[in-house]
Amino acid sequence: MKVNIGIVGFGEFSESFLDIWLQHPGVGKVVGAELIADRRKHISETYGIEMYSSYDEMLEKVPELNCVGIFSQRHQHGPMVIQGLKSGKHVFSAVPMGCTEEEVMEILKIAEEKRLIYMMAETCYYFPCAVWCRENYQAGRFGKFVYGESQYYHDIMDMYGSFSAQGDNWKRIAGIPPMYYATHSMSMLFSAIDQYPLDVTCFGYEDTEGDGIYGKGNNDWDNPFSNETAILRMSGGGIARINEFRRCGNVRPTSYITGLYGDKGAYEGSGNQHLFSRNVPQNGEFTSETVSDEINTFNFVNNKGKMREEDGRTDYFYMMGFSKIHNLKRLPQNLLTIDQNAHVNAVMGHNGSHIFLVDDFVRAVITGKLPPVNPWMAATYTITGIKAHESAMLGGKTLKIPYVGKAPDDWGTIDFDEKPY
Ligand SMILES: NC(=O)c1ccc[n+]([C@@H]2O[C@H](COP(=O)([O-])OP(=O)(O)OC[C@H]3O[C@@H](n4cnc5c(N)ncnc54)[C@H](O)[C@@H]3O)[C@@H](O)[C@H]2O)c1
Repeated sequence: MKVNIGIVGFGEFSESFLDIWLQHPGVGKVVGAELIADRRKHISETYGIEMYSSYDEMLEKVPELNCVGIFSQRHQHGPMVIQGLKSGKHVFSAVPMGCTEEEVMEILKIAEEKRLIYMMAETCYYFPCAVWCRENYQAGRFGKFVYGESQYYHDIMDMYGSFSAQGDNWKRIAGIPPMYYATHSMSMLFSAIDQYPLDVTCFGYEDTEGDGIYGKGNNDWDNPFSNETAILRMSGGGIARINEFRRCGNVRPTSYITGLYGDKGAYEGSGNQHLFSRNVPQNGEFTSETVSDEINTFNFVNNKGKMREEDGRTDYFYMMGFSKIHNLKRLPQNLLTIDQNAHVNAVMGHNGSHIFLVDDFVRAVITGKLPPVNPWMAATYTITGIKAHESAMLGGKTLKIPYVGKAPDDWGTIDFDEKPY
């Protein structure tokens, strides 16, 4: 069996996956759909794939597709994912899962009933700081989770490209509540400690810029907040702090864990410096080590060698390529050097995570097993953000987070020792 995938939406993001789909050994046919004619032309001329003028047209004209990839704008995913699942396709989708609790729950229901793969392509799940914290937390080095903080900082005026397909109406969409796009921050922390949130209190920073993006009547959600901070009580009793800032004097990296504290060990990250300490007074143990060498990336694209701690860079190239903590053995080996013949540099963007995500999806579809970020995890991250914004709109009222359930016991997760393609 091969993955035959139809990709929907060719704005800024999906092109950085296209060389990977085309070169992955488990992928057969790749076609695309895009509403904007110039974008369609660019993709068909550059990659030589068939392009259709809409999602509907693609579904109708290419019945042999068994999968779709949703890369439309962030507020459009829910209904398009549901359409894909209802037409019997496995779905790979950019984050977030949806913008309402109902959309998210419907995706879970259809995917479970039909046993179709729904995978939210969460790039931050494979960010090196997240992988490092996950592996070391699960190895017991932190002890029990006490407190953690992660964030996604991206100024809205630096994101115009992501809303340009909306034309003159772009501000109506750009003003989406920051917490509706909190899956990056949440996935890094929650997957490391394998817990889910029970309650949320969130406050919003009411925007004062006056440029017509935020504020009642300006956007489709009547959202006044450009920055939001949530405090969450987690299922194991610890506390998480999530920041989603869209007017913020911060440069890249945009998403990272600043601190993860257990009762025995603590990770702290700042730019290219990553530290881990242990403090177990009862055993006389007190150690502190630099773990930057395992987390900082090898900048394959510019062939500059490993990012060094002292470089202190926080710009875009910080996020290019793999790091030592990544398990490269599980990937198809032809993809490790894909940057050398790729059409765009961004193929190695988001710390090489695009390659891991495509490989997760291909393995899941071929084996019928769940990807590491399974639909219930994606639903937890997405619905928590939706509830956080609701809390902010209520002046910080503490709200319960609905429990979305978990993967059925008889639906296992992919095993990276298997060679399914
Ligand atoms: N790190 C990450 O995970 C990450 C990074 C960047 C973007 N994203 C997400 O990826 C998605 C795409 O981002 P982008 O910046 O490329 O957005 P974009 O607006 O530039 O591109 C979306 C494209 O989808 C097309 N489209 C919409 N409806 C369609 C339909 N029915 N048929 C065919 N085409 C359709 C639009 O014409 C547009 O060109 C967004 O949801 C964004 O949030 C995720």
